[in-house]
Amino acid sequence: MKAVILSGGFGTRMRPLTYTTPKPLLPLLNKPLVMHVIDSLPEEVDEVVLAANYKIDLLRDFFDEVETDKNVHVVDEPEPRGTGGAVKNIEEYLDETFFVINADIISSIDLEAYLDFFRSKGGIGAISAWRVEDPSEFGIMETDDNHRIKRFQEKPGPGEAFSNLVNAGHYILEPEVLDRIPSDRKVSMEDEIFPRLLDDGLYGYRFKGYWVDCGRPSSLFKAHRTLLDEKGKKTLIGDRSVVDTELGDYVTVGMDCTLEGCDVSNSMLFDGVEISKGSTVENSILGYDVVVEENVTIKDSIISDELYIESGEKIIGEKLEPSEVEDD
Ligand code: GTP
Repeated sequence: MKAVILSGGFGTRMRPLTYTTPKPLLPLLNKPLVMHVIDSLPEEVDEVVLAANYKIDLLRDFFDEVETDKNVHVVDEPEPRGTGGAVKNIEEYLDETFFVINADIISSIDLEAYLDFFRSKGGIGAISAWRVEDPSEFGIMETDDNHRIKRFQEKPGPGEAFSNLVNAGHYILEPEVLDRIPSDRKVSMEDEIFPRLLDDGLYGYRFKGYWVDCGRPSSLFKAHRTLLDEKGKKTLIGDRSVVDTELGDYVTVGMDCTLEGCDVSNSMLFDGVEISKGSTVENSILGYDVVVEENVTIKDSIISDELYIESGEKIIGEKLEPSEVEDD
């Protein structure tokens, strides 16, 4: 069985981190988001097709090196075609029931149980569903007693939502869906295709546990805390890192980092970060190879890859961009 992982968005809300790293490769507990998705796939899935575009070379380099028991194809989209156009673009790979999953969803969904649910219902497809308190930023759906989806609404305004069940970003589809997607243009699966499939039987699969759509740095943080809690860990330290200080709660330290006599709490440090004596890092993300000199304060901030923070600087509530921003 095949799984398509949608990996081609620009990740604009996740800037500045996505200026240098495509969102699917951003580390969460020292593992790229896309690998969290791949590791959650059922055994039955033996091939993964990554529908990619933005910074595809970095994705290819990563999959050339990484070890996984799935056969991974990284397929280029001529330009970003939206969630539906992306699937259409790789239709040659899809000749039987397949998964489509967003690369930036971190959740406790059991994809094998989801597949059993879909097979028991029949129909042309299924959409994972998650209950939220405020659905205004999401696509919502209404289901009947047999879990069949009756209607959708995209990003309902205040007081307009007819349900708080949101599209959680994992689809199981039959290949006939491909015939309904126009080729050679941008198409949104959620806005354009799913509403047209209602008569063919689309089912909503609810699950329990957690669900985080890592679209923004704040949600990446939420996923970071959720997964550390799930593992019962306060901190995680990558290989070859030297940590000569006591870390606060909710800290992940990537590989090859050096931390000396500093105060770090509730933060994500990517590989190769160096933090010197007397510095404080709180509620922040430090990108690859960031160097923090002595007596620096960094709070509620994002520091892009390879930046050098000089002694005594105070960075509070800032997003520091990389020294060169490429416009892709
Ligand atoms: P924003 O620019 O911040 O909205 O992020 P995004 O571009 O990643 O869009 P969004 O978060 O809505 O995307 C959800 C998932 O679909 C992510 O895994 C994206 O990589 C992927 N995605 C979004 N648009 C496209 C596209 O045009 N082509 C492909 N192949 N994937 C896409």
